[in-house]
Amino acid sequence: MIDSVIADLRTGIVMLADSERTEVAEIGGIGPRFRGVLAASNINPATEKSNDIERIWLDYIFSTNKRGVALVTKFKDQFGFDFKGKRVLDIGSGYGGLCLAAALQGADVVGVEFQKKLVDFSLENFHDFDVGDCIEIINKDIVNPETWKSLGQFDIVFCDNVIEHVHSPEGLISAVGSLLKVGGYFYLTAPNAYSFGMIRSECHYGLLGASLLDPNDAAVMLSFIRGQKTEYDVSFYYDYAEYVEIFTRYGLDPKHLLPLDGSDAAVARAHANFNEIIKDLEKVKLPDSIRDRYFERVRWYKNRFYADLNYFYGANDPQERAAIAQRMSRDYEINLWYFVCKRTKK
Ligand SMILES: C[S@@+](CC[C@H](N)C(=O)[O-])C[C@H]1O[C@@H](n2cnc3c(N)ncnc32)[C@H](O)[C@@H]1O
Repeated sequence: MIDSVIADLRTGIVMLADSERTEVAEIGGIGPRFRGVLAASNINPATEKSNDIERIWLDYIFSTNKRGVALVTKFKDQFGFDFKGKRVLDIGSGYGGLCLAAALQGADVVGVEFQKKLVDFSLENFHDFDVGDCIEIINKDIVNPETWKSLGQFDIVFCDNVIEHVHSPEGLISAVGSLLKVGGYFYLTAPNAYSFGMIRSECHYGLLGASLLDPNDAAVMLSFIRGQKTEYDVSFYYDYAEYVEIFTRYGLDPKHLLPLDGSDAAVARAHANFNEIIKDLEKVKLPDSIRDRYFERVRWYKNRFYADLNYFYGANDPQERAAIAQRMSRDYEINLWYFVCKRTKK
């Protein structure tokens, strides 16, 4: 039954019966009202003709419910977190998939989203599954204390695919420090600007080398490559140590979720990858206005990697070598860091 509903959803608008709503939501389908308002704004699923960047954006929109279900399931299964009756905050709630998935598990949900158009889309998404009463979406900037000071406290705060778009990441994290109950969880994903994957293809625009640049220069690079002025919607990229330092400052105790490879082979693999990337970075064509700064950043990146490599080869103690190899894996091979922080201090 589910297969046929999803197939219908892909091809056109269907009405879901009450009994079908929960089943479709459980596996992350999207419903007719939401699909209808997207179509009315000319937002349709990716086709073979879509280019790579269009496909990334369209897949991201149409997967909102699926990604929400996956994240909620991860918290239930990995951390034994029971959403029923809990207060959940989703910062940068976008098209609403995470809010929807948490509400379907019985949570009382608040989303904060500063693009009005996305708020409206998400409300249609909630209508499809009849959970609008359990979700409040606030159309404001989360960094502004006037937004968050009246929200009360939460058992869990999500911030998925958002932090690099926020004008003050530290302002956001400091707000979370106040918004979480003691013992509550903060889930954050943060792209790693200096991973080999991101250097090869910055995750929002697919540009080689853009994540090395500050946002103004990256915007110049993007407009140059597209041949027309194009907005670059990324503000900051922090490195891992900077995130940990900021979390700690606001009473949040972080854990990184992915296992890290601490073997000598991992470092040899990283070195080979690095050599390939540097060759490509040196061939990038750029406008004169940013060329010097770009190559300065490439030199900085080389020095950073060689300093890490020398530190690794200089270590004799096997445990220390493994720890350095793990840090290198974290800093160069992981494209997206997943953090789960617990609020420890009052
Ligand atoms: C890439 S989207 C991610 C949406 C959603 N979390 C997801 O994973 O599907 C980032 C969202 O954060 C929102 N956003 C960025 N800065 C914000 C701020 N200061 N306050 C509220 N929302 C913000 C943007 O409008 C955008 O919808």
